[in-house]
Amino acid sequence: MHSDPTVYDDEDLDAAVAAVRHYVETPPEMALILGSGLGRLAEAARDTTVVPAPEIPGYPESTVEGHHGQLVFGTLEDTRVVFVQGRVHLYEGYPVQQIAMPVRLVHALGAERMLVTNSAGGINRTFSPGTLMFITGHLNMAFASPSVGAGTGPARQRAGDDAGRGAFYDPAWTHRAEQVALDLGLDARRGTYAWTLGPSYETKAEVRALAHLGADAVGMSTVPEVIQAHQLGMTVLGLSTITNPAAGLAAGALDHDDVLEVSERVRGDLMELVRGIVRVAEG
Ligand code: HPA
Repeated sequence: MHSDPTVYDDEDLDAAVAAVRHYVETPPEMALILGSGLGRLAEAARDTTVVPAPEIPGYPESTVEGHHGQLVFGTLEDTRVVFVQGRVHLYEGYPVQQIAMPVRLVHALGAERMLVTNSAGGINRTFSPGTLMFITGHLNMAFASPSVGAGTGPARQRAGDDAGRGAFYDPAWTHRAEQVALDLGLDARRGTYAWTLGPSYETKAEVRALAHLGADAVGMSTVPEVIQAHQLGMTVLGLSTITNPAAGLAAGALDHDDVLEVSERVRGDLMELVRGIVRVAEG
């Protein structure tokens, strides 16, 4: 392992892959990266094998007390999946390259698809707590990328979401997922997600600015994993749960407990939706 945590090369990745294969040999087809309050979605999987993060060399350690990260391998809707639980955030002090390491790992293990979920503040005034939003684009307001320092060249310098490597968020999978949401009678919308550094919630002025820039929702995760997945050629679907109106858009102060409470409330619906999303992944 290098002393510089922003350098994580193929040899490091090989060591992590070997550590995981010690527990589970069947390759996953799809990775599910779970946001705050959504970790329990993994309970829906069958025949699970848990790999604790501390067993994986180079895996970022969650700084949330009492919660180490883990990978949960299993079967969901006849698809081999791996749940990535306990994601880490830029505001925890990790280099962005390390935040994206679990994506490199699940890709190296075989996952070609990635469903990424998060909780977000609603900026679009027609969204309310409990609205589900398929992410169709993002604003990188943390101005960070896991590709920084990983060299240059056409693969890394291709324009954001041009036709060359396809969109960051797969339009066909998103469309099928929307149909699933509709069939389930869910309040599911589309929108642009703004990634901010955190850890504090945005100021009212920032929320006003983000609204002008075209953001529909704001949160502190997801974009680094999506940039990494896109760079690796994975097919990505992004799904936000709107847990609160963003700062200044409703009376009262924002509080993490409210975020968790709304995540808890929509968990049943989300579980059904996630199952459907896995089912329709291949079209
Ligand atoms: N801002 C940033 N991140 C969030 C929010 C928010 O309002 N709600 C949930 N995650």
